[in-house]
Amino acid sequence: MPSSAEEALGPANLTVGGETIELPVQQPTLGRKTIDVSSLGQHGLAVFDPGYADTAAYTSAITFVDGEAGRLYFRGYPVEQLATSHSFLEVAYLLIYGELPGAEAADNFVAKVRDPKLAIHVGIERMFDTFPQSMHPMAMMSIATEALTAYADEDAGLDARARVEQAGIRLLSSMPVFAGYAHAVLRGVAHGKSNRSLDYVEDFLQLCFSLPGSDHLPDNATARALNTLLILHADHELNCSTATLRMVASSGASFYAGVSAAINALWGPLHGGANQEVIRMLQEIKDSGKPLSAIIDKAKDKNDPFRLMGFGHRVYKTTDARARVIRQIALDLVEKLAPEDPLLEIAMKLEEVALADDYFISRRLYPNVDFYSGIIYRAIGFPDAMFTPLFVLGRSAGWVAHWLEMASGPGRIGRPTQFYNGSAERNVPARPGAS
Ligand code: CMC
Repeated sequence: MPSSAEEALGPANLTVGGETIELPVQQPTLGRKTIDVSSLGQHGLAVFDPGYADTAAYTSAITFVDGEAGRLYFRGYPVEQLATSHSFLEVAYLLIYGELPGAEAADNFVAKVRDPKLAIHVGIERMFDTFPQSMHPMAMMSIATEALTAYADEDAGLDARARVEQAGIRLLSSMPVFAGYAHAVLRGVAHGKSNRSLDYVEDFLQLCFSLPGSDHLPDNATARALNTLLILHADHELNCSTATLRMVASSGASFYAGVSAAINALWGPLHGGANQEVIRMLQEIKDSGKPLSAIIDKAKDKNDPFRLMGFGHRVYKTTDARARVIRQIALDLVEKLAPEDPLLEIAMKLEEVALADDYFISRRLYPNVDFYSGIIYRAIGFPDAMFTPLFVLGRSAGWVAHWLEMASGPGRIGRPTQFYNGSAERNVPARPGAS
């Protein structure tokens, strides 16, 4: 285990078949004491850890989730302190470079991200024109990101880290435009034009809502709320998509290929795709007219694969740090933009019933980031399929930071082992009739 500020503790002794192996133990800056098991292979041993729930595969100094306390820290700063006091790009800078930018550094960073030279290549624009309206925007985002490998021209003269930094800036620059274009495909209309003189979030909103057939342009309060949502989604340490990104990075593949893979991992309904599923679930509750207890019973039924979407988390054992802020935004914004939307009330009642139920109490299942975010996106006017791409917009900042962190340190290809339970060695039977 690499060491820096971490505290070395006395070793753990593991006794297997009469042999005692000493394993180093360290206390990270924050989090659980960690046993270094990297020498176990030399003793013919492996550890079994489905879902990697108790395995630290990397060291990282970017983000820490305190699941017991329901706190989330970016570079040591509590996320709720950053959420309304800074712009999304300032928080992206913090994640990427480790410190909050001063005024000049912030301006320079914004100028780099908004540089007209980073406008989307016409080849990628044409790709969006060919996407069918039935394609999910997460697929469009992933394909467009992968296509950057052909159209981006990171300076070959730079060292590996500086090239990734340049690519990261291009990613942050491109993502709102990709999402805006995907929104236009969903609506079946020609995409609009990015206006790089506008603020990052305002430009994204005008790209989505100046389309033919749009009846309103979101106001400043909506832009501020979306800025906060992007910050709350900006990073979340080694979740499924970021672990995917790091896995791809470890093979030496390109940055854009890694982000494209991470987008696909995020799409799943157990991960970022849950925000779309929550709305589907709430809508079903409304349309079916069934009592909330019926949906709770279904979620508790072990013979039914259904789960209460927007509830539970691998790390949080109390309300998700982000969910508290998002709930309040939902209450404020929905009252203003869509007071007639019945889904907010259904969500609040469902939360109340679940939090009083022994099944959820005993398993420590609480609302996560996705429980209320879809209700906000819906009130702004986004169709359900756009909710997970909005998650991508925020998370792109974290993906840049994680890739850069990997590019800066010694790496080892990601290659978990397995607990093999197939056939032992056997001989291929002779074919009937063969001599
Ligand atoms: N509804 C019903 N039961 C649940 C739920 C749920 N939403 N979540 C967990 N459980 C039960 C689970 O069945 C298990 O029960 P038992 O001990 O009787 O077998 C117990 O709680 C522990 O769950 P787990 O499956 O071991 O937990 P996990 O850490 O592997 O999964 C999770 C975490 C988020 C995938 C899961 O809680 C879930 O499926 N939630 C619903 C989907 C969701 O909202 N995902 C968004 C996560 S937050 C956004 C992000 O990914 O960053």
